[in-house]
Amino acid sequence: MFTKNSIVGVIGSGAMGSGIAQVAATASHKVIVYDNNKDSLIKAEGNLKTSLQKLVAKEKITAEQQATVISNISFVNTLNDLAKCDLVIEAIVENLQIKKTVFSELEKLVSESCVLASNTSSLSITSIAAACSKPNRVIGIHFFNPATIMPLVEIIPGIATEENITTSCQALISSWGKVTVIAKDTPGFIVNRVARPFYSEALRIYEEGIADMATIDWAMKEIAGFKMGPFELMDMIGHDVNYVVTETVWTQMYFDPKFKPALTQKRLLEAGFLGKKSGKGFYNYAPDAKLPEPKKDVEIGKSIVKRILFMLINEAADTLYLKVATREDIDLAMTKGVNYPKGLLKWADELGVNLIVQELTALKGFYEEDRYRISPLLKQNFIMKKTFY
Ligand SMILES: NC(=O)c1ccc[n+]([C@@H]2O[C@H](COP(=O)([O-])OP(=O)(O)OC[C@H]3O[C@@H](n4cnc5c(N)ncnc54)[C@H](O)[C@@H]3O)[C@@H](O)[C@H]2O)c1
Repeated sequence: MFTKNSIVGVIGSGAMGSGIAQVAATASHKVIVYDNNKDSLIKAEGNLKTSLQKLVAKEKITAEQQATVISNISFVNTLNDLAKCDLVIEAIVENLQIKKTVFSELEKLVSESCVLASNTSSLSITSIAAACSKPNRVIGIHFFNPATIMPLVEIIPGIATEENITTSCQALISSWGKVTVIAKDTPGFIVNRVARPFYSEALRIYEEGIADMATIDWAMKEIAGFKMGPFELMDMIGHDVNYVVTETVWTQMYFDPKFKPALTQKRLLEAGFLGKKSGKGFYNYAPDAKLPEPKKDVEIGKSIVKRILFMLINEAADTLYLKVATREDIDLAMTKGVNYPKGLLKWADELGVNLIVQELTALKGFYEEDRYRISPLLKQNFIMKKTFY
């Protein structure tokens, strides 16, 4: 369906749209980037040049390749300019109504065969597609930030998406050098669903006073092998993004207590303490500020790791149980999308289901909260002495 000559349109020239455009142009496509904000287009063009210049300086690309990528991308300020595209990837503001309006305008301009994709992190592809008269050509193509660096792309067919659209999009994005996984159109898809306990269980441990933030971060890095601790990662992502994703997943899951956001994080958002970008979040990033020291107690560290890791495994198991994705794609998504040291289902097999079920049963028994309910798939594996692989 797609070839190197396929023209790719990108709507939105912000953080994601400009990254996606660069990826597609590097893969030799002609790319047309549209934004309704002229300043954003100017900024995106400047950023693209700076980013490519850095790659030339690091000898990752040649000056010739740099020139080709630049000449492959054009920046436009009318939607009509996308008429000749074969694929359009929308990366505008995360607002269902606005996205629906853009999709319904777009489908009237492009050819019958053009595929319309959304890079949404949390909205339903099916509901975006419902704004179109041909929802069978609408799909989710979800890149991770920064799109030029993160290898993972989730491909999300909506309920009406034709199978050949899904396979063609997967083949195309893989040909761009990305690792693709297929996810069912459910809140948070794979990564933004399975990763929730990394933040929420860490927040809960902190709220209960079991350990401070620095100790929790230390345990998850030093003992479990994660690249960043939950609190430093939330601060890096920004609470305006991370909290909002949690709240959106929780709301869309009909307020399932498993996904309930933490008040501690909400207060930070209310205060405007957004994390690194605002200079203050869980930690203080002022140049003269001293970061708190962790209490390096290995026993406490191990119990923190067990609780957070087993809740992550529980969510990965439930994601598999509910057929959101295959076990391979769930593991691939977490290692390639958010740099987890291991796939969670593989990790579960290494640790043994008995230990995980025992620990989760203890949490459920103690707190008597539905938040700690065990995935039926973990229970099945426990009873039948089965592994995920
Ligand atoms: N930032 C992330 O970490 C991340 C990761 C994955 C997916 N996403 C998703 O990607 C999308 C874009 O996110 P972002 O971080 O790049 O946002 P951004 O705010 O950096 O950029 C959005 C751009 O869209 C433009 N825009 C808004 N409304 C428009 C309209 N009606 N028509 C044309 N242009 C319009 C804005 O001018 C802006 O340039 C969102 O759906 C978001 O959920 C974001």
